[in-house]
Amino acid sequence: MAGTVSCTQCLIRGAIAFFALIAFPLCAFAADAAKGEIIAKRWCAACHLVSPDQTQANSDAPSFAAIAKKKSSKALTGFLTDPHPKMPDMSLTRGEIADIVAYIGTLDQ
Ligand code: HEC
Repeated sequence: MAGTVSCTQCLIRGAIAFFALIAFPLCAFAADAAKGEIIAKRWCAACHLVSPDQTQANSDAPSFAAIAKKKSSKALTGFLTDPHPKMPDMSLTRGEIADIVAYIGTLDQ
């Protein structure tokens, strides 16, 4: 009987591991604009106007709304993966970049 119980536990554990393996890559690559907004406010707002309610930024960097109009999400991803010299390299992960690009996308209306 004990053998049956632990076997069931194995199956459950196996199922959890299986779903974690399937779900994890999906989560890692699902861009999340809300997370992007948090990252932008924390890391980008010193130089860029990152949201409509921000009134002051520190340099001649373009606002995120202007960037949203000008750049495709593909160009943005490319830029953030390999930023220009004038802008510091923020060492963003691919997930963070996807989130920021999704957030900037919401500003283009
Ligand atoms: C220290 C100041 C600074 C910070 C912090 C900063 N930027 Fe920039 N960023 C700039 C400047 C200056 C430019 C303009 C570069 C140029 O004209 O070559 C720029 C340009 C850009 C551009 C390209 C705009 C275009 O029209 O080509 C994007 C996209 C961008 N920044 C996104 C971000 C994101 C996302 C963050 C936060 C993760 C961030 N920046 C943080 C200063 C900054």
